[in-house]
Amino acid sequence: MKQIVFNKPGDSDVLTVKEVPMPEPKAGEVRVKVKAAPVNPSDVVFIQGVYGIPPQFPDSPVGFEGSGEIDVIGTGIGPDLKIAQGQRVAFATLGTWSEYVIVPVTSLLPIPDNLSFEEGSQFFVNPFTAVTMLDEVNLQKGDWLLLTAAFSSLNKMVIQLAKKAGIRVIGTVRRAEQVQTLIDLGAEAVVNTEEDSLADRVKSLTEGKGVQACFESVGGDIGTQAIASLGKDATMLIYGLMSGEEAKISYGPTIFRTPTIKGFWLSRWMEESSVVDKAKAAKQVYSMTKQRDIILEVEKTFPLAQAAEAVTYSTQSGRSGKVVIQCN
Ligand SMILES: NC(=O)c1ccc[n+]([C@@H]2O[C@H](COP(=O)([O-])OP(=O)(O)OC[C@H]3O[C@@H](n4cnc5c(N)ncnc54)[C@H](OP(=O)(O)O)[C@@H]3O)[C@@H](O)[C@H]2O)c1
Repeated sequence: MKQIVFNKPGDSDVLTVKEVPMPEPKAGEVRVKVKAAPVNPSDVVFIQGVYGIPPQFPDSPVGFEGSGEIDVIGTGIGPDLKIAQGQRVAFATLGTWSEYVIVPVTSLLPIPDNLSFEEGSQFFVNPFTAVTMLDEVNLQKGDWLLLTAAFSSLNKMVIQLAKKAGIRVIGTVRRAEQVQTLIDLGAEAVVNTEEDSLADRVKSLTEGKGVQACFESVGGDIGTQAIASLGKDATMLIYGLMSGEEAKISYGPTIFRTPTIKGFWLSRWMEESSVVDKAKAAKQVYSMTKQRDIILEVEKTFPLAQAAEAVTYSTQSGRSGKVVIQCN
């Protein structure tokens, strides 16, 4: 079977297609025939060797999530788990850019029937992050939430969930043509940071009080202005660094408004949260994707053999949905 691997950190050109032996599931595992796997920013930084998990050479596999059909069921998986051959599933494991992959049964979720494999392949990383980060900041109806890089796939989900909960979202974009889409999705205000000062706009929108929470993934000047926009006892979750530049902390507002600024990493949450909390998040993700409360957009698909082209395409600015690799 074919698998995408790489042997040194770098850009998309380090990726190669390799013929490898068909993997066999052990106890508690299944083999999945992979149908689709998205290219997420975490895949790009993993290939560059700067993600929280380092690649293991030689022949590091790639891809952290995907969707497909159960092909072979390993031993020790009881009927109570309702796992069946041919079942449509989403999964999180390393090495999803592959024709087949071995997945622990605990890392599988069924895909709602009304979702395509391309949509279902995005089931874990962004929807779980959206649900979990919102849960963590525990905002009330009418509270303000600031989202930097609001046009990202993840933040479009956050906007839709926040709108339903009556949370008022201020989003940032750097392209004028993205503003109306986010307003239509449910953002209260969208700041184009190429034209306006984020800190000034937040100040006027919140009548000088600042926001109750911020999900920050850009860094640099936008991160600096986002920190300066935090209100009294606000929480900022830092979960990405898309500009590659560090932000500065404004000491005055930090002293007088006592915000909490902390990191968020879904892998860590998955490792450390209880079975009950994970099941609760999974149930929420299943129902909100089935009911189309959040959209799982697909911008373009590529065959497995063109994974390198898929990665290059995914790093282009101005996309409106995920780049998805079709593995079978
Ligand atoms: N920590 C975690 O557990 C976790 C989990 C999930 C996702 N994430 C992170 O969440 C972020 C979004 O993921 P995604 O899958 O939703 O991404 P995505 O759909 O690829 O969207 C990326 C967005 O970031 C914007 N962007 C890129 N570079 C920027 C810059 N220098 N300044 C301002 N905006 C910039 C892009 O805007 P343009 O349209 O203008 O190019 C685009 O809207 C990523 O950083 C990802 O690593 C983290």
